[in-house]
Amino acid sequence: MEEPATRPEVGIVGFGHVGQLMRRIFPDALVYDKFRPEVSAARDEVAACRFAFVCVPTDMGPDGTADLSDVEEVAGWLRAQALVLRSTVPPGTSRRLAGQTGHRVVFWPEYCGEWNYVTPWEHSPEGWPSVILGGEADVTREVVELLAPRLGPLKTYRQVSSEAAELCKYMENAWLAAQVIFSWQFRLLADAAGADFWEVRELWGLDPRVSKAHTAALLAAPGFGGKCLPKDLSAITAYGAEAGVDVSFLQAIGQFNRTLRAGTGPPNPGVPGDPGDAGAPGAAVRT
Ligand SMILES: NC(=O)c1ccc[n+]([C@@H]2O[C@H](COP(=O)([O-])OP(=O)(O)OC[C@H]3O[C@@H](n4cnc5c(N)ncnc54)[C@H](O)[C@@H]3O)[C@@H](O)[C@H]2O)c1
Repeated sequence: MEEPATRPEVGIVGFGHVGQLMRRIFPDALVYDKFRPEVSAARDEVAACRFAFVCVPTDMGPDGTADLSDVEEVAGWLRAQALVLRSTVPPGTSRRLAGQTGHRVVFWPEYCGEWNYVTPWEHSPEGWPSVILGGEADVTREVVELLAPRLGPLKTYRQVSSEAAELCKYMENAWLAAQVIFSWQFRLLADAAGADFWEVRELWGLDPRVSKAHTAALLAAPGFGGKCLPKDLSAITAYGAEAGVDVSFLQAIGQFNRTLRAGTGPPNPGVPGDPGDAGAPGAAVRT
């Protein structure tokens, strides 16, 4: 299809948590959300935008892998000169999508999660100190030129391979999940030793080499839950197993979490961090 001479600059596809963060950076963007007609422009108008930020779900499929059907669907109708994936996708997805669709694809991992215990800068891409853009250099450069006027000169803009960008996002969420489980392991050991977990944790935290983030093993919210950690841990574990990598460490994190969370009962809206609460502090839902 012939594109109009003046194309809208930025489209955002998927207007949930991440899409709404993107709109703060680009208040002038056209939005399309398949399930939110009240906020959506005409799909064809959004398809014609020069840059498309894809913020659709990549939930856990029945086999534990990331379900990429929404990403694939929107890649099928977008006509942007660059597709910027904000959706978390397994290593190799951006390159495969580019090969299959002819799109120029960049993966920009999103770090601004939804947990409660953050300083304001952690809550926004505007405040986050770095931008990681994975893809071919010609297109990541175009995206830097688009973002830098909005996000400013103080950020670090890294342009890397799409696989490095995709994997680092999973490494971050697997790390947060590991911290939660590690902390819970020591909560159980503290109980066995007759020591107070909170005191042990404070003492451990005096060592400048460790970080207390995601180590508050809250009885009110055993293990980790939320929208991202379980599905991302599962997706990268499945990816590694398929690639023939020994992922027994990741599997153990997932198994320990399931054991911790078994028997926690139905979600209790009165307890922040109870299963299903995306704002869980101890559940470490920041992604
Ligand atoms: N929420 C977070 O904190 C966070 C952080 C980092 C990365 N991510 C990743 O970003 C992606 C989006 O997460 P989110 O939290 O914004 O999800 P969300 O569920 O809040 O929003 C997704 C939106 O996409 C819409 N949508 C679904 N299918 C669509 C389709 N085919 N076409 C158009 N719109 C569609 C939904 O209606 C919904 O409004 C996921 O891959 C997630 O892993 C999320």
